[in-house]
Amino acid sequence: MSWSASFALWAAPVANIRRLARVDWELLRAVRLEMLADSPLAYLETLSAARRQTDTQWQERAAMMSSGSNITLLADGGADDPRVRGLMRVALKEPRKPEEPRRAILLSVYVAPAYRGLGLAEELLGEACRVARSELGAAVLELGVHEDNERAKAFYLRHGFGFNGESRPFPQDRSRPKDVAKAGDAVKRELTMERELAPAQDRDSEGLPR
Ligand SMILES: CC(C)(COP(=O)(O)OP(=O)(O)OC[C@H]1O[C@@H](n2cnc3c(N)ncnc32)[C@H](O)[C@@H]1OP(=O)(O)O)[C@@H](O)C(=O)NCCC(=O)NCCS
Repeated sequence: MSWSASFALWAAPVANIRRLARVDWELLRAVRLEMLADSPLAYLETLSAARRQTDTQWQERAAMMSSGSNITLLADGGADDPRVRGLMRVALKEPRKPEEPRRAILLSVYVAPAYRGLGLAEELLGEACRVARSELGAAVLELGVHEDNERAKAFYLRHGFGFNGESRPFPQDRSRPKDVAKAGDAVKRELTMERELAPAQDRDSEGLPR
């Protein structure tokens, strides 16, 4: 292979990022089953529950995930390879108090194993922050992460998220004793992280407030 062809391959983006649409429900089902099998601690749904969903339920889910206050970003290989390589969803949160800044939540964060460590997660997150701010009008983006998900925590910390002190028991934790009150620290928790979303003119190249 010539030097210029090798360079073109090296410089090519690892994926094409687009919006999930309601017609993508079969792609959504495929990637959702893949992500639940790959990283069961990362999501608040079990693989067996997802497998029981009907076609109609997947169609409804794709419609919900692409409706007004929900934007789902999907990374694929373009027309040549429509398989999903990564996914992230942002959704507007109901404000707890009207005077509080608008918040969005980051959900369904997934990059397929072969594409981890290549910058795709960063690209998806940058776009998620951009649309959360510019299209949903959010000033803060928050997320929940399992306390043992070290890779995800490192990724979020590198991109300006911090722990805000909130947490809750992780509902899918199979080690969770029935009597949570007696379990104390043994119960695994989902930790909340958040970061500010700066308007475009006040953002640095990492998307962080200047
Ligand atoms: C979370 C996820 C999107 C991050 O994407 P990624 O491409 O893996 O992210 P990066 O490689 O850019 O960053 C990962 C960081 O974790 C570090 N890391 C890798 N493996 C690690 C491990 N086992 N323990 C601790 N840190 C680890 C990397 O060195 C890197 O840290 P650095 O930036 O300080 O060097 C991806 O790993 C993923 O889809 N994981 C499975 C699903 C998941 O956990 N989703 C999050 C739900 S909250």
